[in-house]
Order: sequence, then structure tokens, then C-alpha cells
Amino acid sequence: MRCSALLAATAMFLVCTSLPLVGQDNPLSATNAPAQQPRPLPKPVNLQVLPKDIPPQDLVKLMRGYSQALGVHCSFCHEVNEQTHKPNFAADTKPDKAMARTMIAMTQEINTKFMTQIHDPDAMPADKTVSCGTCHRGNTMPAQFTPKPEDHEHPAGSMPMQHPQ
Ligand code: HEC
Ligand code: HEC
Repeated sequence: MRCSALLAATAMFLVCTSLPLVGQDNPLSATNAPAQQPRPLPKPVNLQVLPKDIPPQDLVKLMRGYSQALGVHCSFCHEVNEQTHKPNFAADTKPDKAMARTMIAMTQEINTKFMTQIHDPDAMPADKTVSCGTCHRGNTMPAQFTPKPEDHEHPAGSMPMQHPQ
């Protein structure tokens, strides 16, 4: 009983930690555990904005973050071979990958150049870090802001211009 629970937990761990690209070929299930060792992640070869020496695990974590922030799968930015269904992460064929590079550089600059100038004692580090999700919130195109219907007693952004008599 305890042993099979442990085995299931191990299988879950392996499923959750294996990369989609590694896991897809050979999907692990609770029934065929224990699984073979996941293949080591390939070294990135075409990084132009991110640090070239970023550990592959950290790179994949970032990539998962981008996918979640935009509500997309990896193939939104990365080419996938139609016949073999194999992704080619290094290829620069998709325009969204190029746009994402600009967005990564933009976000880095907002944080390093501008957010560092904001000294708000109430803000936790996460509050003063702009990320893809700050703007995208799960959408490929950031949703347009629509102000709430105006509250006539307390119009948003109003300042007491005159003191009531
Ligand atoms: C919003 C677009 C976007 C999404 C979604 C995305 N990526 Fe990326 N990915 C990029 C960009 C941009 C680069 C190149 C970064 C650079 O030039 O520094 C990249 C680079 C990579 C690389 C390095 C390739 C190389 O050899 O240079 C890997 C691996 C990778 N992505 C994997 C993934 C995986 C796995 C997913 C899904 C979990 C994913 N990406 C989702 C935009 C994206
Ligand atoms: C300051 C707000 C902001 C931040 C932060 C931001 N984006 Fe964007 N992003 C936008 C806006 C606005 C657009 C629409 C631009 C356009 O279409 O001309 C956009 C468009 C995109 C697109 C093209 C989407 C499409 O459907 O054509 C991609 C891809 C993208 N962003 C990726 C990212 C990634 C990845 C990050 C984090 C590294 C990020 N963005 C951070 C505001 C932002």
C-alpha cells in the first residue's frame, strides 16, 4: 500500500518534471512507471536576447511562463514539423517568436531601467516587477482596458477641486 503510493508519487513527479518535448514521444503513465531517465535537455543554440549561458531547466521554466502569460502552447512561437510533429525551438520561422524577442527586451528594460527608480516602501519585489503576464493576462493580445461605468458620487480619478460649503 505505502509502496504503491510512493511509486505513484514518483511517477507523478517524473511526469510533471519531464519536458513536454521529452515526455511527448513516450508519455509516462502511472501504470508503466518507473520510467527511464529523461534525456538531458539540449543546450540552446540560438539565444539572442536571453543570456546564452542560461541553464536549460531555467530556460524551459521561462518558456512555460511565457506560454501561460499568453495562454498559448509552445507552437505559438515555435515551428513544429508537420510530418514528424517535432518542434524546432531554434528556428526563427514564426513571426511571434521575433515579436516575443522584442517583448523580452522591452520587459527587461522596463524592470532594469525604470522600475528600479520606483521606491515604494509598500511594494513587495513581485509588485514592482513587470512580467509578460502584467500586460497579457492570459491573452495573446493584451485586452483593451474599459473603465468601469462612472460612479457619479466618486468619479474615478477625481480630486476635490472645491471644498463643499
Ligand atoms: C511567446 C513566444 C514563446 C513561447 C510561447 C515559447 N517560446 Fe521558446 N522561445 C521564444 C523566444 C523568443 C526564444 C529565443 C530567445 C532569445 O533569442 O534569447 C525561445 C527559445 C526557446 C528555446 C531555445 C532554442 C535554441 O536552441 O536557441 C527552447 C528550447 C524553447 N524556446 C522552448 C520552448 C518550450 C518548450 C515552450 C513551451 C513550453 C516555448 N519555448 C514557448 C519564444 C517563445
Ligand atoms: C507593457 C505591456 C506588455 C508587456 C510587459 C509584454 N507585452 Fe507582449 N504585447 C503587448 C502589446 C500592447 C502587444 C500588441 C502589440 C501589437 O500587436 O502591435 C503585445 C503583443 C505581443 C505578441 C504578439 C501577439 C500577437 O497575437 O500578435 C507576443 C508574442 C508578445 N506580446 C509576447 C510577450 C512576451 C513573451 C512578454 C514577456 C517577455 C510580453 N509580451 C510582455 C504588451 C506587453
